[in-house]
Amino acid sequence: MLNFIWAEDLNGTIGYQGTMPWHCHEDMVHFRQLTNGFPVIMGYKTFVSMGKRALPHRYNYVLTHRHLQQTNIHPLASIDEAQKAIQQSATDVFVIGGVSVFEQLLPLADRLYQTIIEGHYPSDTKMPPLNQQRWHLVEQNRVRAGRPGEPNCIFKTWELATK
Ligand SMILES: NC(=O)c1ccc[n+]([C@@H]2O[C@H](COP(=O)([O-])OP(=O)(O)OC[C@H]3O[C@@H](n4cnc5c(N)ncnc54)[C@H](OP(=O)(O)O)[C@@H]3O)[C@@H](O)[C@H]2O)c1
Repeated sequence: MLNFIWAEDLNGTIGYQGTMPWHCHEDMVHFRQLTNGFPVIMGYKTFVSMGKRALPHRYNYVLTHRHLQQTNIHPLASIDEAQKAIQQSATDVFVIGGVSVFEQLLPLADRLYQTIIEGHYPSDTKMPPLNQQRWHLVEQNRVRAGRPGEPNCIFKTWELATK
């Protein structure tokens, strides 16, 4: 099963100046709980946004044309290599962004974990709107921010309307 997971604000923004323009503790916990123990695939810019560190307890793939040699990081040089890694995985795989990777792998996705961050933030990277005929909303859960100044959010799970 190929899963996507990301957070976007009310305008579809996912990033600004190489980072996420909000802090949302609840979303970070949600991300960790869902992805823990599974392989994750990310683009190089997302890897940079995480301080070029591997996410612990997950097999970290990074899509890049660069010659990347780093402990616990497994580079993928093309979408074909990413597809092979997905096909050969014995477990679910999570694509964790950014938008360039989402766009290339979306045709292969089975399930989407989308967080809506309830706010409007500075933006230079946006998710394209979901095709509502292709994707079916199977779960929705609104969560209030537990920390002052942080946004509320909505966790949505989408599955393919038809296989
Ligand atoms: N809100 C969220 O949930 C979320 C999640 C993830 C990221 N983000 C944000 O999104 C932004 C980064 O996203 P982005 O779309 O700009 O970049 P990205 O997808 O993270 O990375 C793009 C890079 O990935 C590599 N790449 C992509 N396709 C490739 C292919 N087919 N073959 C080989 N390498 C490939 C290239 O790296 P090389 O140039 O090294 O070849 C490319 O420059 C940041 O602001 C980040 O904070 C937000």
